[in-house]
Amino acid sequence: MNILVTGGAGYIGSHTCVALLEAGHSVIIADNLSNSKEQVVDYVQHISNKDVIFYKVDVTDEVALNEIFSRHLIDGVIHFAGWKAVGESVEKPLMYYMNNLVSTMLLAKVCLLYGVERFVFSSSATVYGDNKVPFKETMDLLPTTNPYGETKVMSERILTDIANANPAFSVSILRYFNPVGAHESGLIGEAPNGIPNNIMPYVTQVAKGKLEKLRVFGNDYPTLDGTGVRDYIHVVDLADGHVAALENLNEGVHTYNLGTGKGTSVLELLKAFEEANDIEIPFDIVDRRPGDIASCFADASKANRELGWTVKRDLIEMCRDAWRFEKNL
Ligand code: NAD
Ligand code: UD1
Repeated sequence: MNILVTGGAGYIGSHTCVALLEAGHSVIIADNLSNSKEQVVDYVQHISNKDVIFYKVDVTDEVALNEIFSRHLIDGVIHFAGWKAVGESVEKPLMYYMNNLVSTMLLAKVCLLYGVERFVFSSSATVYGDNKVPFKETMDLLPTTNPYGETKVMSERILTDIANANPAFSVSILRYFNPVGAHESGLIGEAPNGIPNNIMPYVTQVAKGKLEKLRVFGNDYPTLDGTGVRDYIHVVDLADGHVAALENLNEGVHTYNLGTGKGTSVLELLKAFEEANDIEIPFDIVDRRPGDIASCFADASKANRELGWTVKRDLIEMCRDAWRFEKNL
């Protein structure tokens, strides 16, 4: 298939491009490089030994989208492009609603116009709010604590309504848990601007000496050791989940959790990182971070069953690959 990957120069998008190319698909990337570098496109080609077509465009630009769709015969779209910083979304809600919602609506519009029937959307476990773990796709969604999360809930609803009104338009909504790690080549990975919000890039920067110590946000949660529990998933396994979703997409709207199904506490993650890389990570326990929940992990059985997809990489590989990438930066 010929797949348009929006946000394909980003963290998850770049790994998914590699997975698509390795599975024999062709890739067209549309990315405005607002949170990525063009060099990533070269790395994707280098790793896969295949060419990709790259457009530096903003996917909220309808004229630019029309041009891409009229130039190429596209079989499906994977829509990663969007902004994802929770704190920034609280400060600049309009910017987040504009980018994340307008991009989704315009892409769907152009797909309908050009008869593109496969649409895969990047959603997040954040849509479950503070439900009881493990999270299942059938659960009612609870309010998220920030505009970023709301853009995911709203995009899911918009795509569902569009698919219901256009039976040939098939949508796969993928709810990611916590992607970490990097490609084993060490060439592509997560390189956030400024001080990282997410734990793994923070830990790798402490390991490198760029940051002094990790602040563990709370040790009084109702979890095994009091620290927050998350479902960390290797980004390459997550990327493979997209290929499986695309290749198994039938008519209608299908929602899948992409996680390992296993919860890991902050202290367990630190221990795994220290073991995997033989580096000590200094830390302080500080107050809880506002908006955090105690536990978030998936029931991933639907994706396992219907997509024939399971994760292959464990926590040690996630920590090893994340560190290899950081060392190369
Ligand atoms: P990322 O920032 O690395 O990648 C997003 C890419 O989209 C970047 O390359 C950026 O330049 C591009 N982009 C943003 N707005 C654009 C626009 N208007 N036009 C064209 N390109 C644009 O983020 P990521 O971690 O790879 O996340 C990809 C998607 O997955 C996002 O939608 C994100 O919300 C979602 N998601 C990420 C996580 C996570 O932990 N990383 C978790 C759940 C969901
Ligand atoms: C965060 C976002 C979520 C988003 C996800 C992936 C918030 C409130 N939630 O989720 O919407 O979908 O990232 O991008 O920002 N931790 C520390 N110290 C740190 C950083 C994190 O102890 O410096 C802890 C957190 O309290 C949490 C765990 O590590 O228990 C994971 O945090 P993080 O990587 O930020 O992911 P989420 O909180 O799951």
